[in-house]
Amino acid sequence: MNGKAFGIDIGGSGIKGAPVDLGTGALTEDRLRIPTPQPSTPEAVADTVAELISSFDISPSMPVGVTFPAVIQNGVALTAANVDDAWIGTDVDALFTERTGHDVFVVNDADAAGIAEMEFGAGRGRRGVVVVATLGTGVGSALFVDGTLVPNTELGHLLLHGDSAEKHMADSARVREDLDWKAWAGRLQEYFAHVEFLFSPTLIIVGGGVSKKHEKFLPLLDLKAPIVPAKLRNEAGIAGAAALAHRAEQHQQQGGSPGQDAEVTKKALKAARKQLEKQAKRAKQDKKADKSKKSKNAKKK
Ligand code: BGC
Repeated sequence: MNGKAFGIDIGGSGIKGAPVDLGTGALTEDRLRIPTPQPSTPEAVADTVAELISSFDISPSMPVGVTFPAVIQNGVALTAANVDDAWIGTDVDALFTERTGHDVFVVNDADAAGIAEMEFGAGRGRRGVVVVATLGTGVGSALFVDGTLVPNTELGHLLLHGDSAEKHMADSARVREDLDWKAWAGRLQEYFAHVEFLFSPTLIIVGGGVSKKHEKFLPLLDLKAPIVPAKLRNEAGIAGAAALAHRAEQHQQQGGSPGQDAEVTKKALKAARKQLEKQAKRAKQDKKADKSKKSKNAKKK
């Protein structure tokens, strides 16, 4: 792939971006990192994204790819596992495009990291089924079949011990529960053996910040498929987002449609909102029950 595109990686603590050489995946300038605004509402993050882009001298026609840690369909965020609920239903593509003046293409963060690994890193040239998993605050996944991405797989939310697997085996769980490498690797073993049983991948790539220390835990895993560390580490999101933005632009220029049904997105949104309302109602009921229990206990005393 020739040319350049701009990549931005939105994380919980920092928003990082740089122009990317699409032939090699390398950043063509030092990346800039701006702390993620708190609270990280859509408006505040959009302003930071615009500020980041305007710090670089790039052509207004350069496509911009942005990663986001949520299911993204037709540019709209449909989930918010580790981000503010206000993102659910936000047309992130439209918001960032309007705010930056660039044609912005938003993609799930793990999908972007996966694309970067397949194009420039540990999965380069690999056919068959490849699973890329990113271990961080949450667990992201990218699934490839003969190099083609199946977007938004969300394998970090497979059920394990009655809850989303990521609650149990993300890197944040290792830190929070102060697990040693062996104990954490035991949890990873259970998770990846399950993923392997479901998808029969011929390669598993592990990314996320902790993949820097891969020699501490990957050798402890016993799987059928080779499990290897990501090669791009910190820059995977930026490089993958840029590569995807370039592809999306080419697709558009060739007169292609988004390929996703807007009606499905609308329906998914309605379901997500209903789910949120249910959660809020349950939280309110729990609070009420808690309060009456406390007052009963106080009376007993
Ligand atoms: C989110 C995914 C995201 C992953 C890594 C999960 O909690 O649901 O969309 O890719 O975290 O950030």
